[in-house]
Amino acid sequence: MNESTPLLLKALNKEKLPIPPIWYMRQAGRYMPEYRKIRSKFKNFLDMCKNPEVCCELALQPIKAFNLDAAILFSDILTIPDALGLDVEFIENEGPVFKKSIKSVKDIKNLKPFDPDDLSYVYKAVNNIKSVLPNNTPLIGFSGSPWTLAAYSIEGRSSKDFKKTINFIKENKDESHLFLSKLTDACFLYLRKQVQAGADVIQIFDSWANILNNDDLHLLSFDYIKSLIYSLKNDPVTSSTPIILFARDPRCNFNALIETSADCISLYWSMNDFCLNSSKDKIALQGNLNPKILLESREIIKKETYGMLEKFKNFPGYIFNLGHGITPNINPEKVKYLTDIVREY
Ligand code: CP3
Repeated sequence: MNESTPLLLKALNKEKLPIPPIWYMRQAGRYMPEYRKIRSKFKNFLDMCKNPEVCCELALQPIKAFNLDAAILFSDILTIPDALGLDVEFIENEGPVFKKSIKSVKDIKNLKPFDPDDLSYVYKAVNNIKSVLPNNTPLIGFSGSPWTLAAYSIEGRSSKDFKKTINFIKENKDESHLFLSKLTDACFLYLRKQVQAGADVIQIFDSWANILNNDDLHLLSFDYIKSLIYSLKNDPVTSSTPIILFARDPRCNFNALIETSADCISLYWSMNDFCLNSSKDKIALQGNLNPKILLESREIIKKETYGMLEKFKNFPGYIFNLGHGITPNINPEKVKYLTDIVREY
């Protein structure tokens, strides 16, 4: 790493930095008027994701507005189930709805093999974004975790507890593991193609880690994430690409996250009882301001942010971020304010 290495890559290399790199989960989205303007031209959200020129423009919007230290690919984690033929649609106020969810063992066995080229619109978006991003601004590519993708595919939609999914897995253990393996292979091929197209960093979103008890979390999620990370670290295309793992509020010991071999853990906003000292030099950390704090006054935002920065001040490899995505009700001016005060700290 030299002088010109981007801050995000330095932090992922566990370097101690005077000012942390800053980016935000869901930094492109409905909270920005310029996003809503483009969004209004598309009925189905996934149709918008399938347009690489539009994705490029959307990924750049938060970079232009807030001068952030990283861009994230504009896409969605549900592109893989869509490419597997499960026909994903996004319905207003309902979120994703699968026209052909996994309802039986037969549905898993009959699943068409994942062809990474079916998602060439994503790699084209990566390529377009890289071609217009400033040279020193890295691009983060991403995928869902195999478990999170399986949960959506079986449930067929968002849910609080994913009861249907949990029951299906209980009754169809072997086939569920077969499905998770298929998804793991798909995530690997998909992320590899994103890196080939120019992604500098990978983030894996285990957004439904929170609904599993400790045993199931290992068996159904972390074992597959480990296998995915192992494949990425052992492939010449992706071996030097840093990997960030976000797991939402996981019921596990912090060490279990370190043991996935990710380079960085993206902390959920409520994850505050881990030991910074024992993570030191083992892993980089990202996070974890509660996004709801952005609904408060500037005074409160500053107090909470500076309290958090004080905690991570001497940690080698710290990336400033929220503890989950920016929500549509957040005022972009608050995001600008937050970014400015982190750099002034
Ligand atoms: O800047 C960015 O981060 C944009 C790229 C991005 C999107 N989704 C765009 C999006 C990323 C990285 C995601 C990841 C994603 N998608 C996750 C993991 C992150 C997390 O929040 O835990 C998950 C669980 C999804 C699945 C998903 N996509 C849901 C459940 C929904 C509907 C709920 C919602 O927030 O509206 C989406 C839609 C979605 N993905 C939107 C955007 C900008 C909003 C769609 C719209 O404009 O109608």
